Amino acid sequence: MKKIIITGGAGFIGSHVVRRFVRNYPEYTIINLDKLTYAGNLANLVDIENAPNYKFVKGDIVDLGFIRQLFADEQPDAIIHLAAESHVDRSITNPLEFVMTNVVGTVNLLNAARETWKGQYDQKRFYHVSTDEVYGTLGEDGMFTETTGYDPHSPYSASKASSDHFVRAYHDTYGMDTVISNCSNNYGSFHFPEKLIPLAINNIKNKKPVPVYGKGENIRDWLWVEDHARAIDVIFHKAATGTTYNIGGHNEWKNIDLIRTLCVIMDKKLGRAEGESAELITFVTDRAGHDLRYAIDATKLKNDLGWVPSITFEEGLEKTVDWYLANEKWLDDVTSGHYQQYYTEQYHTR
Ligand code: NAD
Ligand code: DAU
Repeated sequence: MKKIIITGGAGFIGSHVVRRFVRNYPEYTIINLDKLTYAGNLANLVDIENAPNYKFVKGDIVDLGFIRQLFADEQPDAIIHLAAESHVDRSITNPLEFVMTNVVGTVNLLNAARETWKGQYDQKRFYHVSTDEVYGTLGEDGMFTETTGYDPHSPYSASKASSDHFVRAYHDTYGMDTVISNCSNNYGSFHFPEKLIPLAINNIKNKKPVPVYGKGENIRDWLWVEDHARAIDVIFHKAATGTTYNIGGHNEWKNIDLIRTLCVIMDKKLGRAEGESAELITFVTDRAGHDLRYAIDATKLKNDLGWVPSITFEEGLEKTVDWYLANEKWLDDVTSGHYQQYYTEQYHTR
């Protein structure tokens, strides 16, 4: 019997983690703690919202009083912490919001966990979900390993790097049982369409320009979100205390090649003439401080815990496109209102 608080469970990755834990561990109680920012959406969890082992709590991890009370009331055995401001472009516009949620919010959770567990960490665990962006950028060669030095460049990655340091500090200073994983770019269902893949799918579908930053030469290492959720499950249950694992797909794509591939898939799915969607590709002003290349070496996770990705990128991308085309209402709901305003400001288009 375990009670686990999963933060950010209404977001993209968090919703997949919540779903997996609710379904696979009926003996656990899963509390989804989420502020429901623009990125949080309870529609991501309708299929499990009535499960007897699931509970949703709306709250802000920056609000220490609230977090302390929640921990005192619920007495959780573990935290899986995903809540964050997660979009690099938004961090360039509003860095302080990223400091508050990603740094202060994480420290609030660490403090509340410390108070609740009172130094007794047997059967307790604080799992912090982080990103490969903390390692900075790669040139043409090499990969990030768990021992690569931190070198963040965006306000987002700087805030995630800071939160990682705090989690390690609570392990080293107070003996808290912590684990951290640093994952590469995820894609899949319920991905908010401000990020490259869902934004491109949505724009191609609506015959709108598909914005590619700079020359489209930046490289990302893409992993199917359900494989990330499975890796979190394995690491949560099996990793030794104080350890870090990199998670990645061994799946590097130049942005422009990825977008061209997506256009080919969309032409087929939408019954369009070959090459029609690719005409929507529009090169726009580059992101400030744009990291050139990310690539994760996930050998440690494979060797220690036996995790490898379950599907190829081609399969995953096709599944993802199918999901967005079958879930038009979800897409329309999340792209109305505030999203329209964000989109106009970010891309200076109508
Ligand atoms: P997301 O933006 O889709 O979801 C974030 C969730 O956190 C939302 O539900 C939001 O409402 C909630 N949240 C934000 N601020 C909060 C606050 N102050 N209090 C409580 N809840 C709050 O993010 P995501 O893409 O699912 O990323 C989840 C985590 O995984 C983040 O920590 C991110 O850094 C990390 N990560 C993401 C990726 C990726 O490719 N998306 C890759 C590696 C790591
Ligand atoms: O690497 C893990 C990270 O991946 C996570 O920690 C972040 O939370 C997540 O948002 C993601 O960050 P990126 O900045 O890599 O993802 P994004 O989808 O914003 O951009 C992917 C690449 O595509 C990047 O090189 C920028 C480029 N891009 C992005 C957008 C939104 C474009 O060319 N055009 C766009 O419109």
